[in-house]
This record gives sequence, C-alpha cells and structure tokens, in this order.
Amino acid sequence: MQSPEFKIVPHGSDTYWDAVSLRDEILRKPLNLEFTEEQLAAEHDQIHIVSHADQEIAACLVLQNTEPDKMKMRQVAVRESLQRQGFGRKICQYAEQYCAAQGKSLLYCHARDVAVPFYKKLGWKVVGEEFTEVNIKHYRMERSLSKPVE
Ligand SMILES: CC(C)(COP(=O)(O)OP(=O)(O)OC[C@H]1O[C@@H](n2cnc3c(N)ncnc32)[C@H](O)[C@@H]1OP(=O)(O)O)[C@@H](O)C(=O)NCCC(=O)NCCS
Repeated sequence: MQSPEFKIVPHGSDTYWDAVSLRDEILRKPLNLEFTEEQLAAEHDQIHIVSHADQEIAACLVLQNTEPDKMKMRQVAVRESLQRQGFGRKICQYAEQYCAAQGKSLLYCHARDVAVPFYKKLGWKVVGEEFTEVNIKHYRMERSLSKPVE
C-alpha cells in the first residue's frame, strides 16, 4: 500500500463529520446503535485523526487525554473495503507516535474481543478481565510508549 497521510482535524469540521459517518457505519450500525448529540459534543476536546485514500477517509480514530501520563485511544475504524490492507496498523502507529511526542508513557483502549488479535499484532497487551461495553465483550489493552528522542 502507499503510505497514507494523516491529519488531525478540528471537532465539528467537515472532515470530523465525515469521520463520524465512517464510525457510525463501522462501529455503531452493526450494533444497532447511534451516536447521541451528547456523546459527540463530549468529544470537543479530543484529538481526531484521519487518513485518506483516493479523497475518501480510509481510517479514523480518536485520542482522549485522560491522565497526565496516559491517553485513551477510541473509535478505531477502517472503511470496510479497505480493511486488512494495513490502514489500521498505520493509523494506530501514528497515534502511538503522536502520544509519545506529547510526553505520554502509555496508550490504552477498550478493545472489542474481535479486535484483540489485531492490537496484539501491534504489540498491545491485554490487562485485566473481560467486561461489557455497548453490549459486547471488551478488554482493556495497553501499549507502553518509548520516550521521543531529545
Ligand atoms: C480492527 C481494524 C481497526 C483493523 O484494521 P485493518 O486495517 O483491517 O488491519 P491491518 O490491515 O492494519 O492489520 C494489521 C495486522 O492485524 C491483522 N488483523 C487485522 N484485523 C484482524 C482481526 N480482526 N483478527 C485477526 N487479525 C487481524 C492483520 O492480518 C495484520 O496482520 P499481519 O501484520 O500479520 O499482516 C479494522 O479491521 C476495523 O475497523 N474493524 C471493524 C471495527 C473494529 O473492530 N474496530 C476496533 C474497535 S476496538
């Protein structure tokens, strides 16, 4: 694959709404769920990362600054027709580099059980027991980040 370009887009921008639409298609509709206005409004101070392929969003994710030394990675979604082509790996690696550059030492996520093998391939580790979120099994997963070179 060609190396995708990554953009951090403002909450509420046209590209933010394109990413919400991809997240809705990939993460919400299959569960018969919809985003609420409150859920999306609560993302106003989160970091929205997208990558494009042929003018269309290929993948997106959201980073939430939860603690001084940690960030939470949320809402990782790759367009269905582009899955298993490396877009997920690349956008997660971009997020890891971004967090390390912010001085964070740990990135964590609530991974759906079907996505655990994907995160393991990227070096993430399961921490703790299974739990339920949006009606499906999840695991907390973590990735230690190396410090950026001074
Ligand atoms: C899970 C998801 C983000 C992975 O992104 P992707 O672009 O399809 O994955 P990549 O092509 O970058 O895969 C990287 C590696 O993980 C593997 N992999 C990807 N998805 C996998 C899965 N569901 N099960 C097992 N392995 C998987 C790939 O085979 C590849 O392995 P390799 O390095 O040996 O070739 C994407 O498929 C997706 O959006 N799925 C639906 C939504 C979802 O589950 N999101 C995660 C919510 S926690």
